[in-house]
Amino acid sequence: MNDKLPLSQDYLNKFISKFGLEDLGKATIREIVGLVNQVSDDSGVTFLRMEMGVPGLKPSDIGTNAEIEALKRGVASDYPMVDGVKSLKEEASKFIKNFMNVDIKPEACVPTVGSMQGGYASFLMCANIDEKKDTALFIDPGFPVQKQQFRVLNQKYDSFDVYNYRGEKLKAKLESYLKKGNINSIIYSNPNNPTWICFTEEELQIIGELANKYDVIIIEDLAYFGMDFRQDLSKPGEAPYQPSVTKYTDNYILLISSSKAFSYAGQRLAITAISDKLYHRKYPLLKTRFGADEFGYTFVLRIIYSLSSGVSHSAQYALAAMFKAANEGTFNFVESVKEYGERAKIMKQLFLNAGFKIVYDKDIDKTLADGFYFTISYPGMSGGELLTELIRYGISAIALDNTGSEHTEGLRACVSQIGLDKMDVLKSRIEAFENDHK
Ligand SMILES: Cc1ncc(COP(=O)(O)O)c(C=O)c1O
Repeated sequence: MNDKLPLSQDYLNKFISKFGLEDLGKATIREIVGLVNQVSDDSGVTFLRMEMGVPGLKPSDIGTNAEIEALKRGVASDYPMVDGVKSLKEEASKFIKNFMNVDIKPEACVPTVGSMQGGYASFLMCANIDEKKDTALFIDPGFPVQKQQFRVLNQKYDSFDVYNYRGEKLKAKLESYLKKGNINSIIYSNPNNPTWICFTEEELQIIGELANKYDVIIIEDLAYFGMDFRQDLSKPGEAPYQPSVTKYTDNYILLISSSKAFSYAGQRLAITAISDKLYHRKYPLLKTRFGADEFGYTFVLRIIYSLSSGVSHSAQYALAAMFKAANEGTFNFVESVKEYGERAKIMKQLFLNAGFKIVYDKDIDKTLADGFYFTISYPGMSGGELLTELIRYGISAIALDNTGSEHTEGLRACVSQIGLDKMDVLKSRIEAFENDHK
């Protein structure tokens, strides 16, 4: 244990008040990052950082080399097509077939500047297809920045914590919102950020069937594609496939990020894949609002064009090469990120041994997968209190408060920056915390 730890509460308070934060439970991820950076610089303590979901693994050379070659060919001087590089669109379509068993034509696989942009553009589209449907519905807990995007867009959303509505209970809960007639889309991530719950086939069926019944668009955020390591989702063209709502509805948009599954976050590239049916569907309101009525056309040539006029040219070749290698079975992208699961398994056990609880701990009757995130609480402490205490012991995380979770006592822990070589330090810091709080 670092001899400066635990930091005194008074010492930490100086930084907390400098940031104007009354309760760390309400702080954003970036505020926690800033606070911990300052405490670390000032105290000399190297923190174990579990707050931010940055990929902690190196990307494959397949992507990096393809991008370097594209740059050497001079693509940097050319504007990319707004709808994306042909080879990327084709490989994305094959990737979706190979790993989801879903048919989406290359034209409807549109590169975006991260899933952040894919989400933003999708939220904007969905709010402009039907005047009566002015509200999106989040199945929470969720990724907080998406709510911020709604604020920037000045669009409405509703949400509920799915914790008490797993399995067949999800149907009545969703219908209680959908019946009002004002919902245009349903948004969730699967596996879920921040809890790592994964929807069951029954739940995906409920969501899909309700999307058909109420004509709402499902925005399925697959930022952690293939990363439910309980099953092997890595074999192209072979079951099991990435679970998805696509089996049950044609009203969907998929957000497939390169950031985590391909460790390519820095290049800001994702694929927004729109079902062929939705891509070609025409909405009169889109025409009034954006001047074109077809969903896919408007998405690409009105929205993405306005936002960024496409995506970094060279990065598209990187993802095309990684998709191609995955499609041909020469690059096992799931294997390359499996270490996150190993880390989570060890880390969860260290916290459990010290009297912590896993907040979201089950997919109905199955133990949760070990993956990129997990959630913890400590008896008798609010999320803000627990976070403050853990920071005193050199460990950072974020509170679940901001994620739409009703579990205000919980924290989200991200494993990406805690390499296997840091587990001993983590163990000694958690044990020190335990000794002082028994
Ligand atoms: C659920 C979810 N959606 C979207 C994103 C953003 O992905 P990208 O880096 O592709 O913008 C993240 C990143 O953490 C995420 O967790």
